Amino acid sequence: MTKPLSNRTQNIAASLTVAVDTLAKKLIAEGKDIVSLGAGEPDFPTPAPICEAAKRAIDQGKTRYTAPVGILELRKKICKKFLEENGLNFMPDQITVTSGAKHAVFNSLAALVNPGDEVIIPAPYWVTYPELVKWLGGVPVFVQGARENRFKITAEQLQKACSSKTKAILMNNPCNPTGTVYSRSELEALASVIVQNDIYCISDEVYEYFVYEGEFTSIGSIDGMQERTIIINGFSKSFCMTGWRVGYDASPLPIAKIIGKIQGQATHHPSNIAQYAAIGALDMGKGESLKMRETFRKRRDFMVKGIGESLKQKIAAPEGAFYLFAPVSTVFGKRKPDGTVVKDSLELCQYILESQGLAIVPGAAFGDDSCVRFSYAASDENLKQACIRFNKAIADLK
Ligand SMILES: Cc1ncc(COP(=O)(O)O)c(C=O)c1O
Repeated sequence: MTKPLSNRTQNIAASLTVAVDTLAKKLIAEGKDIVSLGAGEPDFPTPAPICEAAKRAIDQGKTRYTAPVGILELRKKICKKFLEENGLNFMPDQITVTSGAKHAVFNSLAALVNPGDEVIIPAPYWVTYPELVKWLGGVPVFVQGARENRFKITAEQLQKACSSKTKAILMNNPCNPTGTVYSRSELEALASVIVQNDIYCISDEVYEYFVYEGEFTSIGSIDGMQERTIIINGFSKSFCMTGWRVGYDASPLPIAKIIGKIQGQATHHPSNIAQYAAIGALDMGKGESLKMRETFRKRRDFMVKGIGESLKQKIAAPEGAFYLFAPVSTVFGKRKPDGTVVKDSLELCQYILESQGLAIVPGAAFGDDSCVRFSYAASDENLKQACIRFNKAIADLK
């Protein structure tokens, strides 16, 4: 074939987190001794009541198409969750059930972005955001959160980044990869800039249940924000349902109608059975997730200490999600045992994987080359091994 493929897709990068995870799984399948902290995936099984709900759905023949926007009963329960947990009033017509939160991010951007529109993305950011913006012909505009400010962006920075072409800001709170959690007053300051500049807000809140300090606030609950905000959430992280592929968009009605149209043409809807599993998850409530949070808290503290000792520096404990974004630039310029020099986060991660069998993700993937990301949604034994291996890899650099 000689005809060129889609120009738009030539422009986007493959997900580096998916690439690291795929490589780690391949090496494990080949019998190599690999510890993988690459993927952001809870290591616990999907809770039994959720699996039972899915089995019941199969037995009851819930195996046909549903409405493109998802089962009404599920959308009603999502509205109830918003009301009880976030103080937000949504009607079921404002909810679109999607094939995972990643798909909800795509839907939201597809509903908003025209070619040339700018979308502000606080950095460090989740790998997928800029690529989806570019894919849709938009222009990602990065605003760097300072490490001294726990990687949070300020209202002043946001104002500076706004232009006549700005369509939206894409927030992630709590944040992957940094674990940053914005307080209500910090969100209020950002919200006032968002309202003043009359832009939309997409708020990805998939790590809502994993906040270790203080309370989670949805930016949608701040005055003037619900009518311009698309909230994204899902079941993968909160309910250990990564493989089930269920997430959702909650948006103002005109946007929800567009998202429903996009989904009706593109994927129709997520698996009927998985939607019943999601109903099972909401019926179960967030008790299990909060227990999981306490386990993650202990793992977080273990990793902060272990990785900090290897790097001989104190690392601030992330306030949310289940990642440690550790600063590693002090080892750049050092020599590996083979005599070559470590120049950046990508080379460091390659060296650590090859020499120690530890898979972690280079910060470059998230827009910050000075760090590497560890997912601590892994067993205690794997985290212990990860610290030993990381320590050895760093100690071997001269
Ligand atoms: C910030 C963020 N949003 C969305 C997702 C995707 O979640 P899902 O599995 O529901 O597509 C991830 C997964 O890593 C994530 O970190």
